[in-house]
Amino acid sequence: MNIRSTNWIPVGSIHDIPRQGARCVKHGEMTIAIFRTADDRLFALEDRCPHRNGPLSQGIVHDGCVTCPLHNWVISLETGRAQGADEGQTATFPVRLEGDTVLLGL
Ligand code: FES
Repeated sequence: MNIRSTNWIPVGSIHDIPRQGARCVKHGEMTIAIFRTADDRLFALEDRCPHRNGPLSQGIVHDGCVTCPLHNWVISLETGRAQGADEGQTATFPVRLEGDTVLLGL
């Protein structure tokens, strides 16, 4: 998690994010993917695989990770780190719920 952020931005309802899926929000040049797990935990990562910039938001969410749709690297939703033998890290952002509203910390 990223500690520097204090600015919580509402980015929609949790119901807009499919379980085991993601929804993207733009922040300047960056696209941030907000993931929802099967048990309704939320995570926010830059929508860019550390391997070759694949769109993680289109990957499959499972066990606290997302599998990149391009070459199947597995990225931790919590840390943004590639799992197993692969090395690399995607930026993560804090995210929380207030009622049904998803707040992204930027
Ligand atoms: S770009 Fe994600 S695994 Fe290659």
